[in-house]
Amino acid sequence: MTEKMVKLTLNGREVQAPEGENVLQVALNEGIDIPHFCYHPGIGVEGSCRLCLVEVEGLRNLQPSCNVVVKEGLVVRTNTPEVEEARRGVMEFFLLNHPLDCPICDKGGECPLQNFALDSGQSNSRMEFEKVHKDKHQVISDHIMLDKERCVLCNRCVRFLRNLTGREELQFRNRGVVTEIFVPEGKPLTNGFTGNLPDICPVGALTSREFRFQARPWELKTVDTICGECSLGCSVQTWTKKLNVLRMTPRVEGGVNEWWLCDRGRFSIKKNLKGNRLTEPRRTSGESYTGSLEEYVETLKEEIQKLSDGSFVIAADSTLTNEEIYALHQMVDVTSGRLFVQPKEALHQVYASLKASDREAHFPKDLDHADTVILAGENLEKDHPVLLLRLRRMLAAKQIDLFTVGSGSLGFEDVRKGHIEVSDSPADIQKFFKKLQSKSHEAFSEARKVHMLISDQWVSSETESGIRNWFKSCPEGWKFSLLLSGANTRGMLDQWDDKTFSDTLLEKEIQQGRVDGILWIGSVNEPEKYAEYFKGMKLFAQMATEDENCVEGAHWHIPLDTFLEKKGTYTNTFGRLRRLRRSTRVVRKGFQTLEFLSALTNALTGNKKLELSQMYENVSNQLPLYPKRLEEIPESKETYAYLERAQWR
Ligand code: FES
Repeated sequence: MTEKMVKLTLNGREVQAPEGENVLQVALNEGIDIPHFCYHPGIGVEGSCRLCLVEVEGLRNLQPSCNVVVKEGLVVRTNTPEVEEARRGVMEFFLLNHPLDCPICDKGGECPLQNFALDSGQSNSRMEFEKVHKDKHQVISDHIMLDKERCVLCNRCVRFLRNLTGREELQFRNRGVVTEIFVPEGKPLTNGFTGNLPDICPVGALTSREFRFQARPWELKTVDTICGECSLGCSVQTWTKKLNVLRMTPRVEGGVNEWWLCDRGRFSIKKNLKGNRLTEPRRTSGESYTGSLEEYVETLKEEIQKLSDGSFVIAADSTLTNEEIYALHQMVDVTSGRLFVQPKEALHQVYASLKASDREAHFPKDLDHADTVILAGENLEKDHPVLLLRLRRMLAAKQIDLFTVGSGSLGFEDVRKGHIEVSDSPADIQKFFKKLQSKSHEAFSEARKVHMLISDQWVSSETESGIRNWFKSCPEGWKFSLLLSGANTRGMLDQWDDKTFSDTLLEKEIQQGRVDGILWIGSVNEPEKYAEYFKGMKLFAQMATEDENCVEGAHWHIPLDTFLEKKGTYTNTFGRLRRLRRSTRVVRKGFQTLEFLSALTNALTGNKKLELSQMYENVSNQLPLYPKRLEEIPESKETYAYLERAQWR
């Protein structure tokens, strides 16, 4: 469906815009600033702040531009003396009771109110009375502080929580100048998206407890990267001061996270960068290794080469980038080894079937065109939180009907059209797909364009045949996506070859004495049991992020990066390539995972060192659906509009 475009005139300039769009958004897209508080593209039009007034030819009064829909031939002026006069009047009302505490407000430097006041307000106040004072510094959740006095009552936070998270955790009370935002029954906010509140708050009323007073925005450097806490790979900006990552904010990416981030990703900085990180490589003695990367890699190479043919294996977790996975494949090729990965064989088979069919959904296009969405086996708030916000936005706009299938709380109880109870037992899951095949699920009889999201937790050796058969036999109009668990599980599945196996098979391989040496990347689920296995091996090297995850008795302990320290690419659960850029360094220079793995691979293969872009090209040469070059990976540079507008940028 292509959008119909109309022509309108903005400040004497002819522009084109999609029919139905509001004038405020069109003007912002055209780089014309119109002050506004209550409108937010992800939350919608409210029309209450009256700050976005413009002149529309043919209409007698000034109009709130967020509430005027564009149509062919519309003529709008945003900068006439009348508009500016009206704006100044509205700003004066906003500033009547607003505390003039910019120098000590944590929003200072990136505050829309501050910017608008500077642009269109007046420098002195005619207010002669004592300002109305309200509660300050109120902790309302693990992450958020509320200052009621600064609130301009734009209602964005209330609408965001109500419409997109389904929670009424902030509300208004009272009338007139004593109207205020409050937390009903004083209960702290528990939704998993509270970090978005400081982003959307146009003043310093809602601030992040983690970031408050850590730095002023102009002191910080930003890095465009992605979040690696789930397989959506949301676009983010990290904000660093002298290599300290102080906060993470979203970049607006329509095909991924839209305007949002979840708390799990946004507040993962401490978990990932602080704590007992393993920052130095170590040898058997437990002592830090102080020599060069080359010497370290050379010794490790010799130990690997001493192993008998085929007895060297690598066990890798799904946090590795595509380029790191590529390096591992080269390593197993040259050593005749094997690669054991987290995804199960059954998942690989289901994934391969889906790709071979024409049933895989193109995200978000197929979701946008669907009339029905079926969410099978997953609680989105827990596993892919930001996707929940997109579905709730679509449900609020009555774009889709939603069905959940599974057991326990899958969310959406208040808005879904139906629920089909299916336990997590493979037999029941298989039965559900059989029933779908026999066309006896009346619940979906009216659905024409269906997007079914299936959790990878539902895929097992017992259920894979039922799922694959359904891909083949489902009616026209059905499309599917697999919701994968690890950050780069899809990248791992894409590079799966005949030397790749599921790590569920590894224990048996060890027990049968077929493994003499292992490079284990990530934590070990049953460390005590495996420590016994590793004792009998000639080589056990473990790469780990934290001291706690290091298994005792390893011959080598090698530091492992988190996503905030990586550069390279991930492939998200919908097949979109995502670019990671390094925000900081925790691990000793040279021993970052990509550098270490490629140095070891090069030592084993005799190949020369490659730049990241060349490594990516080696990956994309094998995978025709991947963009050919690193620079061709589409990504949004757009940040939250207000941060872009801030005066210091
Ligand atoms: Fe238009 Fe508030 S943004 S009235």
